[in-house]
Amino acid sequence: MIRAENVSFKYMRNEEMNHVLKDFNIHVLDGEFVVIMGHNGSGKSTFAKLTNAILLPESGDIYVADMNTKNDENLWAIREKAGMIFQNPDNQIVATMVEEDVAFGPENLGVDPEEIRKRVDRVLKIVNMDGYQTRPPHMLSGGQKQRIAIAGILAMSPDCIILDEPTAMLDPSGRIEVLDIIHRLNQDENMTVVLITHFMNEAIHADRVIVLDDGHIKLTGAPKEVFSKINEMQAIGLDVPEVTKLAAYLKSEGIDIPSNIITLEEMISELCRLK
Ligand SMILES: Nc1ncnc2c1ncn2[C@@H]1O[C@H](COP(=O)(O)OP(=O)(O)O)[C@@H](O)[C@H]1O
Ligand SMILES: [Mg+2]
Repeated sequence: MIRAENVSFKYMRNEEMNHVLKDFNIHVLDGEFVVIMGHNGSGKSTFAKLTNAILLPESGDIYVADMNTKNDENLWAIREKAGMIFQNPDNQIVATMVEEDVAFGPENLGVDPEEIRKRVDRVLKIVNMDGYQTRPPHMLSGGQKQRIAIAGILAMSPDCIILDEPTAMLDPSGRIEVLDIIHRLNQDENMTVVLITHFMNEAIHADRVIVLDDGHIKLTGAPKEVFSKINEMQAIGLDVPEVTKLAAYLKSEGIDIPSNIITLEEMISELCRLK
């Protein structure tokens, strides 16, 4: 779905070029749920913008569904294939009524009005916002607004959705609502998901976690593999789940417990087994 091949990118700042990504390679498969983590400034948003041709690589190539982002002619097809959600839902709302907001994308693509009507109602159901069609978006909660923004992307029928810290500005219940929708899109709609987050609990159920550090891939693998590398994660300023730390501690005390426990349920079942 998304391929970055030997990508390098730098921003010009104070007459100085500073490399943000260097020889960066990623391959996100169709239908995969990939989480990208990394401390502030590690290059996560830069990568997201590169996948949507908001930025172009200085060298190397990015392909979205085999379309090179460097080719101008691919621009709209790429943005239709791989929709992007940003941190602040307020910046993504363009209309004064929910249904108009959701219809904005497909209208720009020239989709037939009757088809738009159908899509709007369908995607509002998917994000659990059916019945809000005529509401003003600015009156909604952060989680609801973010779900409307997701509906707006879904209305363009993408195959992939890239979310750059979509829950960072939400309260805990808004975070759960949005995360739940993202997982359902992956499972039920076979949507490829690239979720950028600094909340490790949002990474636990991903197919794969990619950890960035200074524009390099530091760690990659299934959540269990990545989070069980406690020292490496902490060395770059990231945390791991409490239960993973507890498992490591118990193991160091000579207790026979796996070191790759990442959920509370796993911990409970291991403790019950020991008992
Ligand atoms: N528009 C910009 N101009 C100059 N430097 C930038 C710009 N955007 C980001 N950077 C720098 O690039 C690096 C990576 O930023 P970013 O991709 O936003 O990281 P992240 O999303 O992981 O926090 C940081 O050092 C940041 O300061
Ligand atoms: Mg960022």
